[in-house]
Order: sequence, then structure tokens, then C-alpha cells
Amino acid sequence: MNLFSQYIFNDLELNNRMVMAPMTRCRAVAGNIPNPLSVMYYEQRASAGLIISEGSQVDPMGIGFYRTPGIHSKDQIKGWKIVTDGVHKAGGKIFLQLWHVGRMSHPDFLNGALPVAPSALPIDEEIHTPLGKKKILVPRALESEEISGVVKQFWAGARNAKAAGFDGVEIHGANGYLLDQFLRDSSNTRTDMYGGSLENRARLPLEITKAVISEWDANRVGYRISPHFFQHGMADSNPQNTYSYLAQELDRLGIGYIHLIEPVGGRFGATPKNAQLASTIRTKFSGTLILNGGYDKKTGDNAINECQGDLISFGTSFLANPDLPERFLRNAPLNSPDISTWYAGEDKGYIDYPTLNREL
Ligand SMILES: Cc1cc2nc3c(=O)[nH]c(=O)nc-3n(C[C@H](O)[C@H](O)[C@H](O)COP(=O)(O)O)c2cc1C
Repeated sequence: MNLFSQYIFNDLELNNRMVMAPMTRCRAVAGNIPNPLSVMYYEQRASAGLIISEGSQVDPMGIGFYRTPGIHSKDQIKGWKIVTDGVHKAGGKIFLQLWHVGRMSHPDFLNGALPVAPSALPIDEEIHTPLGKKKILVPRALESEEISGVVKQFWAGARNAKAAGFDGVEIHGANGYLLDQFLRDSSNTRTDMYGGSLENRARLPLEITKAVISEWDANRVGYRISPHFFQHGMADSNPQNTYSYLAQELDRLGIGYIHLIEPVGGRFGATPKNAQLASTIRTKFSGTLILNGGYDKKTGDNAINECQGDLISFGTSFLANPDLPERFLRNAPLNSPDISTWYAGEDKGYIDYPTLNREL
């Protein structure tokens, strides 16, 4: 088995086992509506077995980057519908990533309001805002009574994603954003039913997952985790327990996949063997496991062949190579990603990476 072996993902037949990882590209237009250029960007990458869209905020309070698209307004749904139609016409499949950044924001993004988080803990870092680089402020801890409102935002985002023609949704539980902040004990010191014990810390992620599967068939829902992400003050005193429990509970809910970021090399370094969680998650979760982090053709093929995961997601290599599956098939050289255009710009570094067959 390898990256090109057939994979039937529940009721979806994927072209190959290569997933395009979610990537924020900061190109949305006024109103946080997907840029018309995004249609071409995603269409160009439709040969992926599955595309996961860039993170899309479920609420204006969930924004923490410049020019990211949302999934909470009618115009955003319309903008996304053009993208999903384009991807489908090109023979691809696309899920939307549902996102709320929690404390990784700034009042400059939020009409002067403080970002919200599980707990009012400081992070000694800076953030790029529309008005320049600023210090991250101590966030406001969500009141217990407010939390059902956050669940509703994710539920509405999931419903809107359906209206926008997506094939499914991925809940962003990774990379130090709101759901990760609730789950891990470095960022959650609450004393109500959403903090303290592991069961309590996982409550919001699981309530959100339940809300999302009330809109979507569970097998069209994924959940992303990053146990080895230690930036932005993120840590956990017992990752093995934390992620085993989460995987087991997500299994109980019957969701389609877990998307595990566990770098094996490349620019993110390799996760030490004794910290790796893929095999533990495999034993707790019976759905599809997507692996991510520094994979290339060789390590991706190996991981599939050894059944470490069912699918492999590629971020930066898909960003720079719209025809990545074909390049892997032909053992062709890859374009290098231009970091200066990852999070800024218009068409350059977005829709102009050349394919093998066509000068763009
Ligand atoms: C430009 C850029 C934007 C990203 N945005 C997101 C995002 O919106 N959501 C997310 O879960 N991960 C995001 N990531 C992380 C990627 O999905 C992926 O985990 C990371 O690039 C590692 O995979 P790779 O080694 O194949 O590039 C982003 C990464 C990059 C480079």
C-alpha cells in the first residue's frame, strides 16, 4: 500500500490518500469573504484525495489573523459556495475547517474587545494585528453561562458549511487555539465544569463535536489535534492521558477522522519516539487517522504501508505544488514554497506556482 492506494472514506471515494492540510493564506476580501482568487487556488489543488480548507472563524470574536475568511455570514457562505463548486467541478472534495482562535487575538481585531479564553492567563508574545505588531493581552475568561454560545457558534458554522456546499467539516482543536486552550492544562485553570479534571477540560471540545454532528453525518466530521505544539504557552502535564481520552470519546461519537499533527521531520523537526501518540490514538479511535507534519513521498508511503495512518496530509508541499500527487507519481522535483507570501499578498505565491504540464 502507498499514497496512491484506493481509500474509501466511509461514503466518499478518495482519488488518493494525499490530503491537502488546512492553511491560512490571509487573502480574504472585505467582510472576511473568500477571495475570488481562492476558487482558482483550491481548484488547482483538486487532485488531492481531500482538501481541508484554511481555518475559517465561526464568529467575529474567533478571528486572530489578518484577512481570514469566516463562515458566519451570508456573504461568506456565498463566497465559499463558489469555491466548493469549483473544486467539485475539478473532481475534488473539500472540507471546511471550523476555527476560533480564543486568546490568540487582539482587541484590534475585535472592535476593542478583549479576546476570550478558558482562563485569564498571560502569554509573553506579540501578535500581528491590522495596526501592526502588538503585545498579546491577558484575555478575558469566558463566563460559564457564555460557553453554550460558543457551542452554538460552531454549530452554526457547521450548518453554514453545509449550505456552502462543503463535503464535510474539520473542527480545529489544534495549534493553541480555543479548543486546544480548553483541553490542555497549561491554559485551562477553570474551576467550573469546563476546567480541572480531564473530563471537564475535554467537555467543550466534545460538546462542540456533538453539536457539529447534529448537523452533519458523524462520518463527515473530523477533529484536528497537535499534542506536540508548545508555542503560545501551550503544554500539558500528561499528553498520553489527555489525547487517549479525547480519542476514545471522539470514537464514541463516531466521527469520521482524527487529524494528528505529529511531525516526522522537515522544517518542524521529528517528534521523539517516546512522545509519539499515533499508535495510542490508533488503538482508541476506530475511524480514519490522518497523519501530518513534515511528510514527503517516501515517509508518506512508508506510514501508509505500515498502517501508521490511513491518509497523510501535506501542507507546505501542497501550497507550492498544485499538482503534488502527479509530481509524487512521476518522482518529479518539487517547487519550493515562498515563505514571504504564506500569510500575505494576492496572486503571487498563491495561484502562480507552476504545474509540471503548464506554465501558469
Ligand atoms: C501558511 C500556513 C498556514 C497554516 N494554517 C493552518 C490553519 O489554518 N489551520 C491548521 O490547522 N493548520 C494550519 N497550518 C499548519 C498546516 O496545516 C500543517 O500542519 C503544517 O504545515 C505541517 O505540515 P507540512 O509539514 O506538510 O507543511 C498552516 C501552515 C502553514 C505553512
